[in-house]
Amino acid sequence: MAIVKVENLSKEFHIRKREDGLLGALKGMFNNKKIIKKAVNNISFEINRGEIVGYLGPNGAGKSTTIKMLSGILVPSKGSVEVKGVIPHRNRIENAKNLGVVFGQRTQLWWDIPVSESFSLMKHMYKIPKAQYKENIELFSDILGIADFYNTPVRQLSLGQRMRADLCASLLHNPEILFLDEPTIGLDVVVKEKIRDFIKEINKVRKTTVILTTHDMEDIEKLASRVMVIDNGSIMYDGKLDKLKDIYGTEESIQIEIESPISNFEELFKMGVNDISYEKNKIQIRYDKSCINSATIISWVMKKSKVKDFIVQGINADEVIRKMYKNPIKNLI
Ligand SMILES: Nc1ncnc2c1ncn2[C@@H]1O[C@H](COP(=O)(O)OP(=O)(O)OP(=O)(O)O)[C@@H](O)[C@H]1O
Ligand SMILES: [Mg+2]
Repeated sequence: MAIVKVENLSKEFHIRKREDGLLGALKGMFNNKKIIKKAVNNISFEINRGEIVGYLGPNGAGKSTTIKMLSGILVPSKGSVEVKGVIPHRNRIENAKNLGVVFGQRTQLWWDIPVSESFSLMKHMYKIPKAQYKENIELFSDILGIADFYNTPVRQLSLGQRMRADLCASLLHNPEILFLDEPTIGLDVVVKEKIRDFIKEINKVRKTTVILTTHDMEDIEKLASRVMVIDNGSIMYDGKLDKLKDIYGTEESIQIEIESPISNFEELFKMGVNDISYEKNKIQIRYDKSCINSATIISWVMKKSKVKDFIVQGINADEVIRKMYKNPIKNLI
């Protein structure tokens, strides 16, 4: 059953045209020329309860604008949005009860007061029962280690601490849906990993539906089996990450450890290999899966030298997405 329904959704921004320089800025104040920016252009999708969906796209693609419409912060220009049966911008309070939202770039906590007090304000705002509040604080402290900075004012927190506190705050009222807009931006690997584990756990235990925008492909690899890719306001792909890898990720590489050196690779190139690098007793060979397979390469190498070990590496999600942005496919949806 779909918990999020988006149909032919668009958002246009009307921007006043500005010329360069100070004079241009002054002129702009009296000039009514406006340009229309289509930030989101006629997108449709549904998300089922319990799914974790990665929402990807280059800078300015329209990800945050979509999330803001789903959260009720922005009113759509066209089309419809429904989140658990609620139209977000018409009924923001009702919508907020079903939602947890984290914008990685901005905190929802009160800057000058300790984390603990921000949390208790949330408790009152959302009328969270005492037992639920206590249980959540304990659970979140366990997984995210917030106890260390529980009594510290938010403005004194490091980015990673602040993000963890924000994540906790967004989930105190047990929302069924979580929107995360770049939750791991600027964090070190350890904190990133903690946050990913936490999202995974909440999704598993509570069946929380998660939509996650990120530029970090490891977030996607670890969390989301479904990805939606948006570019220029339009959805270019909606489906399994693996399928995307199959389409774009035809290039693989194989690393082979050999005993005696091989002097001539001419034949391998003729067989369709793209690139070979050679260092001491290790050869790294890049090839297109659709031209030649790893077994053929290994058996060729084995004829020339004794093979000690080998590893085949597929393309990672990062490369897939980079390729996709460069060479979009529309007919896959
Ligand atoms: N309030 C606004 N007024 C005018 N234009 C806006 C506004 N908010 C966003 N835009 C424009 O809409 C487009 C989409 O922006 P959006 O913030 O949704 O991108 P994004 O996919 O979240 O990018 P990023 O990865 O950089 O966060 C951009 O061209 C942006 O400049
Ligand atoms: Mg954004």
